Amino acid sequence: MARSSLMQRRSRGRCLALIILAGLLHWSSHIVASFVGVFRLALPLASLQPPPHADATGRETSVPLDAAVATERQTSVLLDAEAADPGRWVRRKLPLVRIDMPDDFADKFKNVHWIWQHAYQRFQCWKLALPDQAGAISDADLPRAWELFYDLGAAHHAEVEDELFLPFVRQLDGGDVAVQQLLRGHEELNAKALQVQEALKDGGAAVRAVIAEYAEMYVEHINLEEDLLVPIVLAGMREDLWKDVAPLIKAKSSASPGGKMALCLFRELSTQEVIAPQYRAKLPGIMRRVLIPVFSMIDSQYSAHRRIFGAIPEAV
Ligand SMILES: [Fe+2]
Ligand SMILES: [Fe+2]
Repeated sequence: MARSSLMQRRSRGRCLALIILAGLLHWSSHIVASFVGVFRLALPLASLQPPPHADATGRETSVPLDAAVATERQTSVLLDAEAADPGRWVRRKLPLVRIDMPDDFADKFKNVHWIWQHAYQRFQCWKLALPDQAGAISDADLPRAWELFYDLGAAHHAEVEDELFLPFVRQLDGGDVAVQQLLRGHEELNAKALQVQEALKDGGAAVRAVIAEYAEMYVEHINLEEDLLVPIVLAGMREDLWKDVAPLIKAKSSASPGGKMALCLFRELSTQEVIAPQYRAKLPGIMRRVLIPVFSMIDSQYSAHRRIFGAIPEAV
């Protein structure tokens, strides 16, 4: 009996060792594949430097970009599509960050990645809403642009809000009413996203118009989210609740299919005066100096994003 139990234990031990070995091989193959990709690309070390951005001439976006200061604390990039249809919302100057963020904002608000996501989403929406003209996303690229923005970005962003961030805010003073209003907004956006998906299936000229409508709705929604939620979180932050929610948001975001592209877009934003110190404070050095620059070179979603959307314009 004792001998049989010993053999069973040994057998279980061998199984466990095999599982661990398989896990290690799987993990290391990803890392090796990443670095093989880096060497195959044979990009110069200079690529690890902060990414280039469109300048005021808008070479990368091909649309006039007017960089002007909104307030001293806001990121100073404003998008100004003078060449767009008169009267359309894209003609308005659009700050990527609208809220005032003093130096201690990230420490107090905590969920600063949410603000950064809104910042690059404003850029994406502005680009998606441009009428078909020089500087706009081409008809051929529109389906992929929508996938990069929505399927690999905004859809996950809304899931994190629905499952984690909004339930957290709901527990703060004044949070419940604000969250109910925002959840209605999510339902309206979901309905509009279905229209976009139908239009994409059908193809044709309607696609651009429906995507532009979605983009306008989306920017209004994220503006409202910040207007409603930032004051509630700043006034009634509950560290005891946040310490449970923060790791869940981090884990969900890291596992998302567009997670690496999001990090690369954060890196683009990190040259902005307001976001730079937050980026340095909130992301570990190994991420900022090694992993994200490597992702920026090898991630296929990010490279498609750079080709289709261009670079987020640089602050001045
Ligand atoms: Fe939302
Ligand atoms: Fe949002």
